[in-house]
Amino acid sequence: MSTPAKKREIFVTNALPYANGDIHLGHLVGYIQADIWVRFQRMRGNTVHYVCADDTHGTPIMLRAEKEGITPEQLIARAHGEHARDFADFGVAFDNYHSTHSPENQQLAGEFYGRLKQAGFIATRAIEQFYDPVRQMFLPDRFIKGTCPKCSSPDQYGDNCEVCGAAYAPTELKNPYSAVSGATPELRQSEHYFFKLSDPRAVDFLRQWTAGSVMPASAANKMQEWIGGDGENKLSDWDISRDAPYFGFEIPDAPGKYFYVWLDAPIGYLASFVNFAGKHGGIDVSRFTDPAKAAAEGTEMVHFIGKDILYFHALFWPAMLHFAGYRTPTQLCVNGFLTVDGAKMSKSRGTFITARSFTEQGLNPEWLRYYYAAKLNANIEDLDLSLDDFIAKVNSDLVGKFVNIASRCAGFIAKRFDGKLGESDAAALAPFGADAVAAVTQAYDNRDFSLALREIMRLADLANVYVNDEKPWELAKDPAQVERLHRVCSTALNQFRVLTVLLKPVLPALAAQVESFFGVAAFGWDDLSQALPAGHAINTYQHLMTRIERKQVDALLEANKESLVSEAPKTAETAAIETVAAKAGVEVAPEINIDDFGKIDLRVAKIVSAEHVEGAAKLIKLQLDIGEVVDGQPRVRQVFAGIKSAYDPATLVGRLTVMVANLAPRKMKFGISEGMVLAASDESGEVPGLFVLSPDSGAQPGMRVK
Ligand code: 2FM
Ligand code: ZN
Repeated sequence: MSTPAKKREIFVTNALPYANGDIHLGHLVGYIQADIWVRFQRMRGNTVHYVCADDTHGTPIMLRAEKEGITPEQLIARAHGEHARDFADFGVAFDNYHSTHSPENQQLAGEFYGRLKQAGFIATRAIEQFYDPVRQMFLPDRFIKGTCPKCSSPDQYGDNCEVCGAAYAPTELKNPYSAVSGATPELRQSEHYFFKLSDPRAVDFLRQWTAGSVMPASAANKMQEWIGGDGENKLSDWDISRDAPYFGFEIPDAPGKYFYVWLDAPIGYLASFVNFAGKHGGIDVSRFTDPAKAAAEGTEMVHFIGKDILYFHALFWPAMLHFAGYRTPTQLCVNGFLTVDGAKMSKSRGTFITARSFTEQGLNPEWLRYYYAAKLNANIEDLDLSLDDFIAKVNSDLVGKFVNIASRCAGFIAKRFDGKLGESDAAALAPFGADAVAAVTQAYDNRDFSLALREIMRLADLANVYVNDEKPWELAKDPAQVERLHRVCSTALNQFRVLTVLLKPVLPALAAQVESFFGVAAFGWDDLSQALPAGHAINTYQHLMTRIERKQVDALLEANKESLVSEAPKTAETAAIETVAAKAGVEVAPEINIDDFGKIDLRVAKIVSAEHVEGAAKLIKLQLDIGEVVDGQPRVRQVFAGIKSAYDPATLVGRLTVMVANLAPRKMKFGISEGMVLAASDESGEVPGLFVLSPDSGAQPGMRVK
């Protein structure tokens, strides 16, 4: 007698989403992928502990809370509720959804730090960084802006230029300014804490670890390249501290220094698991985290992540785990980015689609789960949500092929056979047997969901051929064929049942409806070995899934469209900003002569203040200095600019820009607008954003622009 295979025990995580953003369809690729795999493993009888949490620390979250006038704690509590709800709506069923701002995580982060320090992996040294003298804080690279040192494009971030793609240090920027206050940053020294990744022990360990089969081969190759070959050491020590003010955990023996958000984020995986085990008896976390126990018991630790955070999970995280005395991940499952209709998600086109809008517009989350599954495999590939293909695939596969089998046969069983199944045709069920199940099983296990669904749809085609050939609607007309009718409908419903079991990891809500239709307990993989017998009573068939209409998708895009320019239609209370097409090849406005142009008085203006406008979703109120003096007093102009989507008011103060100074004042809902600020945007919507113009350095308020 063969012994049954040992059941797997797997600790599974998804990347922790930041608490300062909505869950969108791009996020959902990785969450849906992991959830399908987890559901499949459980259906096979394996044990899975599936956890996640919000990633709550760091400067952006601190500043976002400040901007909203709430505490970071309030902001993360709100995000937690919203994220948990979005995941539940899309059937992503974590056992626990925790937070990195939790006692468990603080305790564990302290423990990791203590152990790494004890083992000689923590070093301190002073580094020089930009400091905002107005906000009195060190600035992360993304909060420093200035002119690109390579191509001289203005308003580029401190780490790379979005125009020419150059990477540089923030200190190389020309005319740097703080994106938080607008102030010119100063270089200041501060003591930082480092995780010594360049230690030969870490390099040796990582070289070995990345050479295993823990991650896709393409990722492993990239890691090996980053680490360097024998005798080489390309890894730098990792800066794990940030100075106050910072929203995070203070380093235990270093007052005023905080753990960098990426230090405690992955530890949050373990914290969520510990928190879960604390709420539910009977789970020994150490069996999954202690290296000796994990090896002895064969437990697994699997992380689902996006390709953008591979570096953290393939280098920093395993090194932290290993040298702090923890087990390392058994698998890194890496997904690519989402594109919509072949392009990056775009707010102006409405393709930056939030999870919330999807459900609010009445679209069925299982449509998306199916479409993603149909395109996912274990390679690190970007996934394109082609909207027409999405509609066609769901309508044809799920409604046209799958649901159609049941809807064509269920009624006869109810009406003609008292709701009881009859005998099934063994020959017609044979293709739905062990071989097909084994192929689908293997594909799911390997995360080749696309292959699994192709195989399932091949079976659905067979079932449809069977029904089309047997024509139950014709049999029903002939009293002599009643037995045959019973057999055909029972067979088709058994085929449908197999398809439902196989699709259940992808379509759990639909499968639950089918379970009640058949009057059976929750389907597991064991249900695939036997058909429902003659005499089994089924319930009334309820329609299982509707078709997607193009107009629903159009409404979804509309709901996600962000107009980047004006608050109101141009004719009414127009936001006081005009955009200038910034792209070559655009259609240029009708010609004017030099006199026409001369009528426009363009002036360099200094933004003296900038503030949100109560009740206006898109406007910022600016006070502009163009060097005017009225009755011996300096005069500032008030201008309402529709640039809120692109700028934090605090980042504008102190900047120079260009305004139309002789535009007739206009009465707007929120006050008089006395001019217009110039900004550029891409009218086609391909390049998102809105770019306020700045003169080169040396220009003074009031200078005429010609
Ligand atoms: O990139 C991100 O969205 C991060 N919040 C992911 C963190 S994953 C883990 F390490 F916490
Ligand atoms: Zn550049």
